[in-house]
Amino acid sequence: MRAITYDRHGEAGQVLRLSEQPAPAPPAAGQVRVRVLYRPIHPGDLAGVQGFPGGPRQRFATPRVPGLEGMGLVETVGEGVRDLRPGQRVAFFPVPEAWSELLTAPADLVVPVPEDVSDETASLMLVNSVTLLTLLRAVEDARHGQAGPVVQTAAGSSVGKLVSAAALEHGIPLVNLVRSAIGAQTLRERFPGLSAVSTADADWRTQVRDATGGRGARVVLDAVGGSLAGELIELLDDGGTLITYGQLGSGDLPLESHTLTLRSLTVRGVSIGRWMTRTPEERSEDVAFAVRLAATAPELFEVAARYDLADFAKAVDHVRRPGKSGTVLLTSPAS
Ligand SMILES: NC(=O)c1ccc[n+]([C@@H]2O[C@H](COP(=O)([O-])OP(=O)(O)OC[C@H]3O[C@@H](n4cnc5c(N)ncnc54)[C@H](OP(=O)(O)O)[C@@H]3O)[C@@H](O)[C@H]2O)c1
Repeated sequence: MRAITYDRHGEAGQVLRLSEQPAPAPPAAGQVRVRVLYRPIHPGDLAGVQGFPGGPRQRFATPRVPGLEGMGLVETVGEGVRDLRPGQRVAFFPVPEAWSELLTAPADLVVPVPEDVSDETASLMLVNSVTLLTLLRAVEDARHGQAGPVVQTAAGSSVGKLVSAAALEHGIPLVNLVRSAIGAQTLRERFPGLSAVSTADADWRTQVRDATGGRGARVVLDAVGGSLAGELIELLDDGGTLITYGQLGSGDLPLESHTLTLRSLTVRGVSIGRWMTRTPEERSEDVAFAVRLAATAPELFEVAARYDLADFAKAVDHVRRPGKSGTVLLTSPAS
């Protein structure tokens, strides 16, 4: 079978290879084998290949395969698996080695795809929806039941658009921050009820302050990090919280103890890497939410482009293209 592999941390364009790998062993009890048809490329996948900042850059004796999410067809089921059958369309997360044509997954991490959800939507409905729920829970904690404006960065991202839709649904006063004037305009047209500001404007800090009622934000949801996050701390209202969940930008986050203490600010990191610590019942509810959202609002799971596994280098370039809208998928045939 084909798979995308890497044997050392580094820039994805340099270390990823298309290679022939042995097919995985037949599924053991409680497992299924899935022929993967679509898998998204998330920024986190590329960060994992690169090696996370501050972590060790490693070489691996056995090549690794990126990817934790995707969709495909069940090929075979192991002993004791009752509710999945060969030929069934399924999505999965978090299952390692999604960037291969075949994988073996624990049956409890595999989700049947309803008829009214397309293959493409199914392939990216879990990570971004679970991220949305993780962010909404963190925002709720940070607001302590009080109303107050929320600012989000990288607001044109796939996750950012889910946050915008949820803010409109739940009446959260959200200010969308992006890095270009065209990005801000696109968001104003897509979500007319929400303000959008571009950091390319010299007076963007004043615009954000005005949009948050002059006092600053109760919560900032930040996927950019680095030096921008430092500026966003200045735009928090006293007692506010910066929730950091990504590092798309560069530079260091300057944190002055006296800024945090005198203004009672909180900085909190969140990650779906901790999702497996939720109870099985809680995870089932999250998955049910994701499937419902995929069925009722498929436009929130926009696909930017599709590339065959063999064209992974073009796909990775596309992921990093400024102004990209939606998620890039890697595809492989059903047989
Ligand atoms: N913590 C978690 O568990 C978790 C889970 C999922 C996602 N995430 C994070 O969520 C973020 C969004 O993911 P996604 O898949 O939704 O992304 P995406 O659809 O690929 O979109 C990326 C967005 O980031 C913007 N961007 C890229 N570099 C930027 C920079 N240096 N400064 C400002 N904006 C920048 C782009 O803006 P342009 O339109 O201007 O190009 C684009 O709108 C990523 O940081 C990802 O790592 C975190």
